[in-house]
Amino acid sequence: MNNGSEQQIRVWDLFIRVFHWGLALLFLAAYVTEEDILVIHVWAGYLILGLIGLRIVWGFIGTSYARFSSFVFGPETVIQYLKDTLRLKAKRYIGHNPAGGAMILVMLLSVVLTCITGVAVYGVEGAGPMASWLVNAGEWLHEPLEEVHEFFANFTVTLIVIHVAGVIIEGLVHRENLVDAMITGNKRASTAPDTKDLK
Ligand code: HEM
Repeated sequence: MNNGSEQQIRVWDLFIRVFHWGLALLFLAAYVTEEDILVIHVWAGYLILGLIGLRIVWGFIGTSYARFSSFVFGPETVIQYLKDTLRLKAKRYIGHNPAGGAMILVMLLSVVLTCITGVAVYGVEGAGPMASWLVNAGEWLHEPLEEVHEFFANFTVTLIVIHVAGVIIEGLVHRENLVDAMITGNKRASTAPDTKDLK
């Protein structure tokens, strides 16, 4: 049974929470500004790369639920978890579940590719850290790079929609507010499944 007096434990440390909401805000800022407010667009991209760089380090040396080793599972486990979710029988994980963990890796990769291709477009235009390599590469590179940058930005948006849907579904299946957990850092300690999870 799930009652309000159940013990809470700290799952997401301060860095993870600042990283998460910082990343979400910066991505939104970069996406809505595009080239209209280039300085915000470009700086949001640099800050995102910096945040993800720190997150990767934290994934090896950080608190236990922040570590990659706690949420990177093999493909069979991810597929089994998705099947169990469809049957409303998915096990509750205190940290990221296998499908969430896989989605996090794909999202981070897609965000990084979005940012790097953005820096490359900027470099062809003669600005930013890649300018010295790319400014003489030829104008022909500009358009294809811009298209790849746009592709990854839109692909990331699709992943974010799936990510938020996953957060809502998992919250409903296990009757917990995962968004609140990403704000406070706390989740209920019990690993016992809710009655709904039992056959
Ligand atoms: C309103 C929008 C969003 C909501 C409600 C939301 C919610 C959440 C929640 C609840 C988690 C923890 C999942 C779990 O319990 O396992 C999470 C993790 C994560 N989300 Fe989001 N998210 C949002 C937007 C975004 C955006 C825009 C991005 C990327 C650009 C993003 C990237 C991530 C990443 C990378 C993690 C893993 C955090 C870590 O371990 O470092 N999220 N999100």
